[in-house]
Amino acid sequence: MRIILLGAPGAGKGTQAQFLMGKYGIPQISTGDMLRAAIKAGTELGLAAKKVMDEGKLVSDELIIGLVKERITQADCENGFLLDGFPRTIPQADAMKQVGIKIDFCIEFDVADDVIVERMAGRRVHPGSGRVYHISYNPPKEQGKDDVTGEELVIRPDDEEHTVRKRLAIYHEQTKPLVNYYHAEAQAGNCEYMKIDGTQPVEAVSKQLAEKLG
Ligand code: AP5
Ligand code: ZN
Repeated sequence: MRIILLGAPGAGKGTQAQFLMGKYGIPQISTGDMLRAAIKAGTELGLAAKKVMDEGKLVSDELIIGLVKERITQADCENGFLLDGFPRTIPQADAMKQVGIKIDFCIEFDVADDVIVERMAGRRVHPGSGRVYHISYNPPKEQGKDDVTGEELVIRPDDEEHTVRKRLAIYHEQTKPLVNYYHAEAQAGNCEYMKIDGTQPVEAVSKQLAEKLG
């Protein structure tokens, strides 16, 4: 099963990717997590991406396309994958099509901007795995600690309100056009398109996804 998770920053892509990975046994390909890992490792890619990400802007299409192409050809993607945070621009979607990567489902998470700003203020992440929590809506078992490793949770540097608003503006300008793009793909019979109300509680969203995906 090859799935695209489409939605604004904070819409719940990473949260539901955790659920879907467990249920369908397919890997999550989060371009955001890959870039954060590169920053942590201090690679050339990380150095190039850090400033752009901290400002809430998008990393260049060229760089991201190269990263995803390499990841998607690895053995664990043979039976499918979850694309979380990619594609994010029309050129990224076109590049994927050009190299013959087919998609089964495009899932859009619909959440209003003001709900997102509130969510980001309470988000905590486990840097090693990318696991995501919220202090009220999806709290870890032990405050401030990852459920699996017990390691410290952190606040993402781009979760400050000013940066979140900037990321939302960029989403509406550059990523939202992908809604029409994948509607057209669905109409041409190339994939299925589903829109989910992402403002429901985490478990309700997961349940609806499982029902739709089968
Ligand atoms: P990336 O890491 O992809 O960030 P994003 O798309 O902005 O999305 P987020 O991770 O912020 O949100 P999410 O939808 O995963 O929500 P989550 O599940 O965490 O990208 C970061 C940066 O990298 C970009 O700004 C860009 O610079 C660069 N980049 C990455 N990919 C790129 C690309 N393809 N091209 C160019 N640049 C790229 O949930 C958010 C919070 O809400 C959590 O606290 C969670 O617990 C909570 N929550 C989730 N669901 C619910 C619910 N149903 N109810 C209540 N709370 C919920
Ligand atoms: Zn995410």
